[in-house]
Order: sequence, then structure tokens, then C-alpha cells
Amino acid sequence: MSTSESAKAQPAQGKLGVMVVGMGAVATTLIAGVEAVRKGLAKPIGSLTQMGTIRLGKRTDNRTPLIKDFVSLASLDDIVFTGWEIFPDNMYEAAAHAAVLDGEHLKSIKPFLEQIKPMPAVFDQHYVKRLHGTHVKQGKNKCDLAQQVRADIQNFRSTVDRVVVIWTGSTEIFLEPTAVHQTLASFEKGLVDNDPGIAPSQIYAYAALKEGVPFANGAPNLTVDLPCMVELSKQTGAPICGKDFKTGQTFMKTVLAPAFKSRMLGLHGWYSTNILGNRDGEVLDDPESFKTKEESKLGALEHILQPELYPDLYKNIYHKVRINYYPPRGDNKEGWDNIDIFGWLGYPMQIKVDFLCRDSILAAPLALDLVLFLDLAQRTPELKHIGIQEWLSFYFKSPQSAPGLYPEHDLFIQSMKLKNTLRHIQGEDLITHLGLEYYD
Ligand SMILES: NC(=O)c1ccc[n+]([C@@H]2O[C@H](COP(=O)([O-])OP(=O)(O)OC[C@H]3O[C@@H](n4cnc5c(N)ncnc54)[C@H](O)[C@@H]3O)[C@@H](O)[C@H]2O)c1
Repeated sequence: MSTSESAKAQPAQGKLGVMVVGMGAVATTLIAGVEAVRKGLAKPIGSLTQMGTIRLGKRTDNRTPLIKDFVSLASLDDIVFTGWEIFPDNMYEAAAHAAVLDGEHLKSIKPFLEQIKPMPAVFDQHYVKRLHGTHVKQGKNKCDLAQQVRADIQNFRSTVDRVVVIWTGSTEIFLEPTAVHQTLASFEKGLVDNDPGIAPSQIYAYAALKEGVPFANGAPNLTVDLPCMVELSKQTGAPICGKDFKTGQTFMKTVLAPAFKSRMLGLHGWYSTNILGNRDGEVLDDPESFKTKEESKLGALEHILQPELYPDLYKNIYHKVRINYYPPRGDNKEGWDNIDIFGWLGYPMQIKVDFLCRDSILAAPLALDLVLFLDLAQRTPELKHIGIQEWLSFYFKSPQSAPGLYPEHDLFIQSMKLKNTLRHIQGEDLITHLGLEYYD
């Protein structure tokens, strides 16, 4: 397998503008973290693009460059941030409010954070019940609001070389696709008619894609996982991916479930509960936003375990997910899992997982990798016009895939797929792990 020089990614030259929608815990931890790394104050732990290597060729070849040296990714020094938020706080105030990073850490980069001020947001409380936004755009209809976001993107783009947009905003209420989402034409009509199926996140996504700007969705809401967005993405060559960062509990779930399946161990039930006390937790305390999150968290087990292929092991799994808002914990979420498995002759066993994690510390490096890889996709002729970037499933709880194709949830398959895509882009042999050549 080889890729001609012309098919490879164009080099990442100049500034990469990153626009975040929603400047809360994840976004401020991302932005403050990138600046801290740039100043040499900390290491980018958790980021595959910054710390990961990739094996090339045979195991005996000893070729394992850093991913960032193997493919042409924007350098952290070339990233410029801006974004939208429904509250007017600058990034320092927002990061202090989010209380993920400690005061000492924030103080060392205070001047940098203070100069990033959000643009007014597209917001409607109908879609996020627990928030009362004050820093919001006014427009005569949703089309007008989309035009305003497009103008924001155009202004910012005139100051940088390339732009990527990422949704780090709150989880919106549960919505299902309707007729308005089926084609680009029906969506554009819906914008003018103020169709209630069009949530603010979709307005940002539409504006970005219309501008030819890639869009990643870090939350579980219905945003780019819509036929009209896939159509627009392919048309303008703006790659998309989503949805919902795979950080704490689902990250663990998609490691453990493949392990059970690979050993043919059965599962009776999986009970997952969480406590968290940040603004995300407060939003998810609303049943309509929780339903969006619940749907996103429930899908993984079914797809990994394939009960239709293994009815004796996984036919009647009881899978329950709860999230409880508990302010004293702030961003430091605790996720408990009780897993009832069974083995040889059906004998039952239990596994308990108690993950005391830091939500945004886990999410920030994923957001960084996503913007860098989406930018790479847009510079790669073979990836630019395919719409959904399934090779980025690695980062999502609810990965988007082509219509009719079940999503791949197994973290290790996702990781292999991502790395093979990078090898493919650079014209290197794919790694199959067959390995017979070592025993000739
Ligand atoms: N932290 C994690 O580990 C994690 C993991 C998976 C998914 N997520 C999702 O990522 C999103 C962000 O999480 P967070 O912890 O940063 O939440 P957060 O509440 O701290 O930040 C979200 C921000 O978005 C703003 N916002 C809401 N609607 C907006 C709009 N229409 N336009 C602009 N801004 C808007 C809110 O005011 C808030 O400041 C949430 O949807 C969350 O469910 C987070």
C-alpha cells in the first residue's frame, strides 16, 4: 500500500484558529492547559497527538516516531483560541469559576487568559433548561442567527490561516431527527421558519460547515449526526465528528466489556452511577438533558457485546446509568460500577469499579487531539470530502458512523483504526498483527 505524494496531507503552515462553543470547564481547561504547556509549566498528559508514538513497519525495524513528527499537525505554538459563551466572563474568570485548575496554576497564565473574551452566543433556554444566559445574540429568526455566527467565523478567519470549531457547550435536551434534518434544503428552510427541531448547537454546526470549517461535537446532543449536516460537510469539504467525549465511566466500560467478550465471559447486569457537582452536573440534573446523556452512555455495551451473536452470554443484560448532581464534588466526579458477570458453567462473579476522576482533566486532551486531527483531515485530500471521520471514534462515547453501519465502540479497535488511518495517510504499511514473517 502506498500513498502518492499528492494524496498526503498538505503541511500545517501558519496559525490554526480554534473556536470553542461554550467556555466552561472543558474549554477553559483545554485553553489554560495549552498555554501552560507552551510556557513549559506542565506536560500535555493524556494527549495522543502530543505524547503518543506510532510503530511503523516490522517490530524489528525499531521505527516508532512521535505521532506529531510522523504526520503534519499544527504546533501548539500556532494555535489561537476564541469562542462563544452565554456568560460574558473572560477566560480567567471562567476558569476560576470552573475550579478545575488550582489558583496558583491559573495565576501563572492570568494575562493570557484574561485577554480571551467570549463572543455573544446563540442560546435558547428551551434547549438547556437550567441555564439563564445573558450574553446572547438577538436575531429575527434562526437563519439570521446562523448568519451572525458565520460572520464571527469569517472575522476570526481573517486573522489566522485555518479554523476548526468544537462544541464544548452544555448538553441540550433530547431531540430526535425530524423531516427538517433530512436534507440541506429542508434545514435551510427550517432556519427561516424557526423550526423547533433546530437547537442552537445545530446553528453553530451549520454556520461552521457552510464556511467550510470542520466541526467536532464533544457533547451528546443531536448536532452533526444528521443527514443535512453530513450532506453539507461533504459538499464544503469540512470534516465532522462526534459525539460526547469518552472520558470517565464509558472509557472504562469500553475497556472492560471487550475484555469480557474476548474471554467469552457472560454478563447479567451493569449498574453505573455518578456524582458530580460542576455546571455540567447541574445541567444534567434536568431530566431532558439527562435523557440525552443517558442515550449516549447506554449504546456502548450493546454494540460491543453483540447479544444477537452471543445470546447465551449477553441476551438479557440489565444496564442502568445514573448521574446525580452533588455540588461538594465540583468537577471531581466519582463513578461507581457494579458489574455482575458469570463464567464456566454459569457461576456468578462481581467486579466493582470506583473511579475518582477529574472530568475536565480527562476531557481537555481529547478536545486538543480532536481539533488537531480534524485540521489534519481537512488538509488530507482523501479525508476532506468524506464527511464523518469515523477514525476519530476513539474519542467518543457515541461515535458517528455511516448510515447502516454500526459504530465501533471497543477502545482498542478504535485506537488501531486511528493509527492505521495515520499510516495510510503517510503511505506506510498498515499493521495487521499477523506477524508470520517473524517465524519464516
Ligand atoms: N468533562 C467531561 O469529562 C465531559 C465528558 C463528556 C462530555 N462532556 C460534555 O461536554 C460539555 C461541556 O462540559 P463542561 O464540563 O465543560 O460543562 P460546563 O457546564 O462547565 O461548560 C459548558 C458551557 O457551555 C455554555 N453554553 C451552554 N449553551 C451554550 C450555547 N448555546 N452557546 C455557547 N455557550 C453555551 C455554558 O454556559 C457553560 O459555560 C457538556 O455537554 C458535557 O456533557 C464533558
